[in-house]
Amino acid sequence: MPIGPDIQRAVQLLEQGEAVAIPTETVYGLAANAYNEAAVLKIFQAKQRPAFDPLIVHVHSLEQVKEVVSFLNLDHEDTRKEAEALMEKFWPGPLTLVLPKTDRVPDLVTSGLDTVAVRMPAHPMALELLRSVGFPLAAPSANPFGYVSPTTAQHVADQLGGLIPYILDGGPCTVGVESTIIGWESDTGQWVLYRPGGTPVAEIEAVIGMIGRAKKRVLPASPGMLESHYAPRKPVYIGDVQAMMKEHAGKRIAVIAFSEKHDAQHSEVLSPTGDPTEAARHLFAALRKLDASDADVILAEIFPQKGLGAAINDRLHRASAKHN
Ligand code: TXA
Ligand code: MG
Repeated sequence: MPIGPDIQRAVQLLEQGEAVAIPTETVYGLAANAYNEAAVLKIFQAKQRPAFDPLIVHVHSLEQVKEVVSFLNLDHEDTRKEAEALMEKFWPGPLTLVLPKTDRVPDLVTSGLDTVAVRMPAHPMALELLRSVGFPLAAPSANPFGYVSPTTAQHVADQLGGLIPYILDGGPCTVGVESTIIGWESDTGQWVLYRPGGTPVAEIEAVIGMIGRAKKRVLPASPGMLESHYAPRKPVYIGDVQAMMKEHAGKRIAVIAFSEKHDAQHSEVLSPTGDPTEAARHLFAALRKLDASDADVILAEIFPQKGLGAAINDRLHRASAKHN
């Protein structure tokens, strides 16, 4: 199945209404013309993604944001200024903003919500692609629904290879966890965190002040909030690894550790120097590798909460949710 760095080929396929895997700085996305519902439907089909889970729309410029975000529907002038300040500071980069949508965005993209999630990716190939096609790209992570996100073209090929016509290879993702998602909620007039990710919340709060934390609801406001998500097939447990190794004695054990190796059958150290940014970059490849190993269980350390550590802990917590 075709993988390669041919941007023109990706452009052509996207113009023809196909869904194509593309690199971003966070994770690989499965992209289609956000204005073409038939094309967007192919994303849902390939991923087996439920229709209640809306997609992120990717743009290449602050001008293009205005096609999809209705700034006029933000009641407060202050909020508009805050949104613009965030875009100025963090774009292109791993921050997604959920804001009121324009009529141009089809309901399929937003699952019928009157808001749209939008971001400007920092990967140079993604930006070049967006500029070439001219339309915004709806793109969730390029993995089957609920599984670990892909951070290399090969990860995408391993799972979606037969289902999509092209994987644009832009090398391994440099951030390695998905974007941070925050939204402005019109009922409370507040910014709320839906998903910790590649932009540390403290950096966002340095620009717009304290933001709220999303409450759990019957239907998630953002399926990135689903308890079990980003999950390998093998059971994952998170906590004190030494103690857990005793509990699971007799099993084949794989360990995900921050900076020091454990004496187990398989042990992945995410950052020998103890750098949470480097650890985030290596997290999903390590989870995939251990999921494909002969281990019976995956045990993960709790990471320091600073910097991207919060996003790592969030993903590990969800990876473990189905077994706890
Ligand atoms: O880094 C990323 O964000 C990657 C790359 C490809 O850009 N994309 C990504 O997409 O992680 P996905 O679909 O796997 O996660 C997007 C999350 C979903 O949990 C979805 O529910 C949420 O964004 N979302 C999308 N539109 C929303 C909206 N209108 N309100 C609340 N949440 C929304
Ligand atoms: Mg995803």
